[in-house]
Amino acid sequence: MDNKRRFALVGTGNRGTTMWGRELLAGWRGFVDLVAIADTNPLRAERARTMIASNAPIYGDVDAMLAEAQPDLVIVCTPDDTHDEIVVKALESGADVITEKPMATTVDKIRRILDAEKRTGRRVDVSFNYRFAPTAARIKQLLDAGEIGRVTSVDFHWYLDTEHGADYFRRWHAYAERSGSLFVHKATHHFDLLNWYLDSEPDTVSAFADLQMYGRKGPFRGPRCKLCPHKQDCDFFLDLAADPFLDALYEQPSAIDGYFRDGCVFRENIDIPDTMVANLRYRNDVHVSYSLNTFQPIEGHHIAFNGTKGRIELRQYEDQPWETPPEDVILLIRNFAKGGPAFERITVPHSPGGHYGGDDRLRNMILKPGMTDPLGQRAGARAGALSVLCGIAALESARSGKLVRLPELMPELFEGEVRPFAHTEAPATIGGRR
Ligand SMILES: NC(=O)c1ccc[n+]([C@@H]2O[C@H](COP(=O)([O-])OP(=O)(O)OC[C@H]3O[C@@H](n4cnc5c(N)ncnc54)[C@H](O)[C@@H]3O)[C@@H](O)[C@H]2O)c1
Repeated sequence: MDNKRRFALVGTGNRGTTMWGRELLAGWRGFVDLVAIADTNPLRAERARTMIASNAPIYGDVDAMLAEAQPDLVIVCTPDDTHDEIVVKALESGADVITEKPMATTVDKIRRILDAEKRTGRRVDVSFNYRFAPTAARIKQLLDAGEIGRVTSVDFHWYLDTEHGADYFRRWHAYAERSGSLFVHKATHHFDLLNWYLDSEPDTVSAFADLQMYGRKGPFRGPRCKLCPHKQDCDFFLDLAADPFLDALYEQPSAIDGYFRDGCVFRENIDIPDTMVANLRYRNDVHVSYSLNTFQPIEGHHIAFNGTKGRIELRQYEDQPWETPPEDVILLIRNFAKGGPAFERITVPHSPGGHYGGDDRLRNMILKPGMTDPLGQRAGARAGALSVLCGIAALESARSGKLVRLPELMPELFEGEVRPFAHTEAPATIGGRR
């Protein structure tokens, strides 16, 4: 096939090497050719190239790569605060872009990407794989079909276990300047799911956030796990040598740039919260109660949509110390059935692959020609921007103790009239019956 897309991979850490490297070439070789690899760490790039089984040239500099390799698609898998610069350069070189989430970390960076996309006429896709998980797609169908009437509120709680959650505190994610905090880095997925499910924009956010377990809250600290005097006592000790993949990709390459994969989760200078709650009010009047916890004995999420005619509930199990079936069960509960509330169990089998098959479906949607998108799962730069903006607003609210209005942060993302905040209807009588 000679109309394959000639793509360049920028950033050869875990995500670049697996999802957008090894797996992409294994399953989508008929649609793409890897023509260049770029990473600021040449040894990591070389290790990644071997793992990907490619002979594409390696560049340490994105400008040189774009000028010489002239890819027509650039896939950006670098740390979050670097996305904007690489995305803009790629767009200006004439390439389309797939960027890993979060699309960016600040309002200025979001603007640079939106402006460049408009100016160049190229396209940015954001890697929101959770939209493509089969259960998320089924929920979206139920909501769009009006099965529970008009949604009035959502309860959404996400749990990271001590392995996954701690991982964000080992490296660059642990600094708000690099990741925007987990309200941006991680919750961008969750806010995007909400924006997509509800088919509306968030208007106002209030939040609380604290550091309760990691960073300065830890009992002791060391330079990094490998050299730590507290190895024996630390619940978060990571033995990189026990994971040949991580060891090869990160340990020796760290000698070049000092980027250690096993940084101490108790570093004093960690400045992101590990425990977060946010309330969001949407422009279509839906109220959302959201939380993110990063040191749980379970991994997964709870979500419930409360509507005028019923409720949709899901408890998605990803990891927990008891057996769960290889499928999700969505409960569809109706308010006004004859004889009282009625419910239906909707079983959605898990598909193989990352994010229960979401990763594969995302790659199909973006890379296979002629795909249709009836659920609007493909996410562009505006969706990337809106979900990041929720996180920026949440962090600002948590820090300032104030409500934050999203249209005031980025008016250009919002069309139509921006209503004043005051919305709560006064009760007809005070202190009891109405
Ligand atoms: N969609 C998902 O589910 C998902 C899952 C994991 C990670 N991610 C995202 O993927 C991205 C990468 O994550 P990771 O865990 O692989 O990170 P990582 O830190 O392990 O790897 C990043 C790589 O980028 C390189 N790099 C840094 N700055 C660069 C620059 N300016 N130019 C070129 N290379 C540069 C680093 O040397 C490193 O090799 C992040 O944005 C993350 O949020 C998304």
